[in-house]
Amino acid sequence: MCGIFAYNGTKNSIPLLVDGLRTLEYRGYDSAGVVGINDTGEIFVQKAVGKVSNLATKVDGSLGNSKVYTTGIAHTRWATHGTVTELNTHPHSSSKERFYVVHNGIIENYKELKKELEKKYTFYSDTDTEVIVKLIEEHYEEDLKKTLEKVTKFLTGAYSVAVIDRENPGTILGIKLWSPLVVGASEDGVFISSDVNALSKVASNYVMLEDDEMVIIQDKKYQIYTAGNLIERESQEMDIEYGIDDMGIFSSHTEKEIHDIPTVLENVFSGRVNFGEKTIYNETLEELAEHEIERIEIISSGSSYYAGMIGSYFFKSLAGISVQVTSGSEFLADELLPDTKTLYVFLSQSGETADTRESLKIVKEKWCLTFGIVNVVGSTISRLADMWLYSHAGVEVGVASTKNVIAQIAVLLMMAVSLGQKRNLQHSKARTLIEELEWLGDNISEVLLNAPKIREIAKKYAKHKSMFVLGRNMFFPVAGEASLKCKELSYIHTEAYSMGELKHGPLALVQPDFPCIVFNPAGKFYTKTVSNIQEIRAREGTVLGYVTKWEELGDLYDDIIEIPNTSEILSIFTSLTASYLFALYIAEELERDVDKPKNLAKSVTVE
Ligand code: G6P
Repeated sequence: MCGIFAYNGTKNSIPLLVDGLRTLEYRGYDSAGVVGINDTGEIFVQKAVGKVSNLATKVDGSLGNSKVYTTGIAHTRWATHGTVTELNTHPHSSSKERFYVVHNGIIENYKELKKELEKKYTFYSDTDTEVIVKLIEEHYEEDLKKTLEKVTKFLTGAYSVAVIDRENPGTILGIKLWSPLVVGASEDGVFISSDVNALSKVASNYVMLEDDEMVIIQDKKYQIYTAGNLIERESQEMDIEYGIDDMGIFSSHTEKEIHDIPTVLENVFSGRVNFGEKTIYNETLEELAEHEIERIEIISSGSSYYAGMIGSYFFKSLAGISVQVTSGSEFLADELLPDTKTLYVFLSQSGETADTRESLKIVKEKWCLTFGIVNVVGSTISRLADMWLYSHAGVEVGVASTKNVIAQIAVLLMMAVSLGQKRNLQHSKARTLIEELEWLGDNISEVLLNAPKIREIAKKYAKHKSMFVLGRNMFFPVAGEASLKCKELSYIHTEAYSMGELKHGPLALVQPDFPCIVFNPAGKFYTKTVSNIQEIRAREGTVLGYVTKWEELGDLYDDIIEIPNTSEILSIFTSLTASYLFALYIAEELERDVDKPKNLAKSVTVE
């Protein structure tokens, strides 16, 4: 949620900064801006509404070759305070344009601060960030380090901030609380970034800043301070190779990532599942099984929340452990009754989602056992959790998560089987499940081969303004995730209900032509769900079913998306994959930007 990039060195900062923003664009793409200073204090500022490519075009047309701006800061924005305009675009400046600031996070007390500052200063934007730069101006006393230390004492909320001063052209200060900030070093200079990936091609070493730490960059060198005191911090060698695969034959990263799912599953199981011996073996899971776990609480947000809900059924049915799933924001809003026999599991693709991350901190403060399942290597949640597993989905570019959700569900399934094996899970049941898992990638490939048919069906459903997505038991959260994907990608209102709840109210909306999308693979609840479908048909609603291939369908459905004939648990993976294609094709039909849907960001670092 908002990306910061900064550079001081021997090169021209502007092209480097724009490039850095391209990697950070997943954090927000409402607008982007850059400011550079040359050695004599001359500045270059450029801002553009929309994606980083808009900024890049403006920069290309205005930068020229004659001046080298060796210091600069840049920002890509996900709007929180103030609409999407150039005026609200970072970097923000003090009234005499001496100080410039970029900021990721939210200053919760900005209104009070602004009210006071407005007595003396005129504000040009609606952002909370402008308050920070005006505070710097107000409290500046010839020492930017001391000023920033003082200013941050006024701030309540989350921030990572980079500041430059036109009168000290070769200096950048960065400070953070809760929002991430990484320092990268190379022979040509020093960088600050919101994530390490954006540094992978330009820096040879990096250091993750901790909360309340400040970095001062000067003359291609950096120093880190905490509470005003210089500290020694060893840097890590840049061992991260970050590259975004090209889209190949696909028309979007999202489409490619859905087609990556069979490979992702191979990666998830590799070295963790022994298909020959039909066992799950992983040191972390072995260690986990040593703990006395009576209950599990899963905390996550967005798609990860639905993955957690799906996983909860695995823990209950395979390991006999009761589970509660709570979204990060609700966990934070509730009272924690700490329990040392509860395992707290934090699911997050980015490993940075503020609601999930802050929940983890609260649990850690109570000394309870925490377990992270994250995709981004080295992300905050993996660093904070007592134990963790990576979901190994690879770089996910599409803002709406797809392949990572499937990977998360696969990790949760492995965890449940592993814990189950130490409890009451029948040996034969575990073996059968593992045997089936070996073919899951092939089952998914079968679904992907059906893409043209799914596209045809999606085209028909793209005309609707509202739909229900329904499922029972494990397929209720599957419906939730399928519905979320439709909302995110196509902007159509879809609402997920537990199939059994339909008759308790929502059925009132069902009328001729109202679409109900039903997950009804072969399994325990098949017959009950069929009865519920009849209730929809009796009101002449339209029914699209995700159904198992061999099913005798009669005239139960208006349309069907077939999924392979597997066990119920495996049909979670196949039907979810099919639903991702469905959501994607509806969005394509409506000409949406599927990789960067409106109003979203891939890493939401504000509460
Ligand atoms: C944002 C994204 C969602 C994602 C959610 C949780 O809202 O737009 O696609 O599911 O964050 O992200 P996480 O990185 O914690 O899985």
